[in-house]
Amino acid sequence: MLKSQLTDELHQYCLTYGIREHPVLVKLRQESEKFSNKQMLISPDQGALMAMLAQLMNAQSYLEIGTFTGYSTLWMALAMPVDAQITTIDLSARHLDLAQTYWQEAQVSTKITPLIAPAEQSLQQLCGEKSNYFDIALIDANKSQYIEYYELCLNLVRPGGLIIIDNVLMYAQVLEDNPRKNYVKILQTLNRMLKDDSRIDLCLLPVGDGMTLARKRTNNETKS
Ligand SMILES: C[S@@+](CC[C@H](N)C(=O)[O-])C[C@H]1O[C@@H](n2cnc3c(N)ncnc32)[C@H](O)[C@@H]1O
Repeated sequence: MLKSQLTDELHQYCLTYGIREHPVLVKLRQESEKFSNKQMLISPDQGALMAMLAQLMNAQSYLEIGTFTGYSTLWMALAMPVDAQITTIDLSARHLDLAQTYWQEAQVSTKITPLIAPAEQSLQQLCGEKSNYFDIALIDANKSQYIEYYELCLNLVRPGGLIIIDNVLMYAQVLEDNPRKNYVKILQTLNRMLKDDSRIDLCLLPVGDGMTLARKRTNNETKS
């Protein structure tokens, strides 16, 4: 098996030549990196990958769990059509003003509906209103509840749609035999569970801190 050669220098080369980060995204990322929890953001190459997937799928609707300063939201909003519907969920409105300032500057704010409440509550509420609706969902908040979020997203995403799950490698802690941290155990359980889940097609990419792509199979595909 070919060993990964991705040194920091090569990764920087990929970021320099391999993606196009919109000037407003650059400003929002730099502003967000001033916070102590700057590692919260998806990386620019993850953003470019998600934007590319949205364009390839001609996605009209996107559900996001974990808004923070709205950086991943902005990647998707810039890639999606003017009438796209983006719903982004966060427990806290602490960074919402900042997010909205940059969404407005990039002229995409009309596409975005923020929901401020615990994700499980917002997801349950959405499940009561619609199912098989969203083209793409991103799970990027509260690792301890990733399994619940995944099950709710499977209901909310349409057949053929995509669930993206961030931080599935948890800075290599998923390799530990007996992890002390409960959320690492949950990520290990989720990763094992997805491997055998016949409801999805699966691809875990070593981009950022590990990003799983789970495509929801159609009824015909699940049966075969
Ligand atoms: C990793 S950050 C999201 C980063 C964002 N997706 C990006 O890349 O730009 C996670 C966010 O999840 C939020 N969060 C944590 N627990 C939550 C919960 N139970 N329900 C909803 N949001 C939660 C935090 O407030 C934080 O803003």
